[in-house]
Amino acid sequence: MTTPADAIRHLWTHKTQDHPWLSDEELVIDRAEGVWVWTERGKKLMDGFAGLAVVNVGHGRREIAEAIAEQTVRLAYYPTTRQFSNRPAAELAKKLASLTPGDLDLTMFAVSGSEANERSMQIARHYWLAKGKGEKHKVISFHGGYHGATMGTYAICGLPHLSAPYDVIKPTGFAKVTAPYPYRDRGTGSDEELVERRARELRDAIVREGPETVSAVIQEPVLSSGGFIMPPIGWLKRVRAICDELEVLLIADEVITGFGRTGRWFAVEHDAVVPDLMSVAKGITSGYVPLSASIATRRLAGVFADDTKDENVHPNTYAAHPVACAAALANLQIMEKDHLVENADAMGTRLATGLREALRGTRIAGEVRGRGLLVCAELVDPKDSGQPLPKDLVAKLDRKAWDRGAIVYARGSVLRLAPPLCITPQEVDQLVDMVAASVRELDREI
Ligand SMILES: Cc1ncc(COP(=O)(O)O)c(C=O)c1O
Repeated sequence: MTTPADAIRHLWTHKTQDHPWLSDEELVIDRAEGVWVWTERGKKLMDGFAGLAVVNVGHGRREIAEAIAEQTVRLAYYPTTRQFSNRPAAELAKKLASLTPGDLDLTMFAVSGSEANERSMQIARHYWLAKGKGEKHKVISFHGGYHGATMGTYAICGLPHLSAPYDVIKPTGFAKVTAPYPYRDRGTGSDEELVERRARELRDAIVREGPETVSAVIQEPVLSSGGFIMPPIGWLKRVRAICDELEVLLIADEVITGFGRTGRWFAVEHDAVVPDLMSVAKGITSGYVPLSASIATRRLAGVFADDTKDENVHPNTYAAHPVACAAALANLQIMEKDHLVENADAMGTRLATGLREALRGTRIAGEVRGRGLLVCAELVDPKDSGQPLPKDLVAKLDRKAWDRGAIVYARGSVLRLAPPLCITPQEVDQLVDMVAASVRELDREI
């Protein structure tokens, strides 16, 4: 049985593609296994973007399905908003304390990445209230940053085409600064000089706003939606130092980068930095059931008395959902058993190196860069001395890769790859071949 077209057309989300290139009926995904998905019409494709950089352990893992089934029968739901708790949630919170760096030890669960960031900003606000510094409320973020699709996260969104409609209700003083983008901004200088320049701008912005009014800086270690912008290693250390100097909290948005994606459990580890709060989602369950969290350091959580009767940050109905937490535990067990963090590191290097080699000599491949299994090719206009290739041309790569058997994510001027972390060397080479052939074809057409 296939899904009728008139049913698909009731799905509003489906209509938000910015470049529709196949009929609705061609785009119904029916089943999946490992790094492969099949459409309802039977086309087999390599999932070069793990859904939305979500399915870290790969599709069709029976262990997670069984953990979900077992927990659903035992206890499908009970709230944690009224002093109750449940075993999977407690075990997962303990596990996260052991996996995350430093003293990131206390977890407040939510459902989506957006909500994780809402919680992180709310916890930061309550921290300052508890410290008697009630003026501190602003959150500084980065141009090109994306933190979710709620009103609060639109206030820190660095992608104006998404957030502009809500500008009229945006809080004032939520300044945006620029993260180091070596390929575009390094110029003739060094990465270190670029980091210093951007660090000065960040510090100046906080000073301009008044540090006594600034609650936190929020930063994605890799600015994913903004174009897989990878600040040089060393940048986060500078951000941490500025936050410490000016008494501002650091929130790391690890919604995409967390759980092995960059070849470390968490991307802040590349810089040996411990943020005050870490927002996570996606890879925590590999998307088998939605779950997210804001994880706080023991130092930060310490300002809230254990015996308080006052509510501070209000959790929501599905916080610490037992089935989602059971799925996460099974997911993390697979990641450890199959050494997927190490695999992401090795396969990421293979993918970036392979793609760089395969695209050598093309006029439109400006740079291939990667951190673990976040790998991209930044495309340039061969007729316009390194300017970004127009997005409607780049978008053609989605279709070209699809025709060759791969799902990729071509947006703006950047073709992005984030396959499941269980990808094998042979599958990496297949992906390189399909992507490189697509880019070469576009190169010839221009
Ligand atoms: C870095 C980052 N933060 C937050 C979000 C929002 O997560 P969600 O879509 O689950 O609300 C995303 C989504 O892609 C993201 O990439």
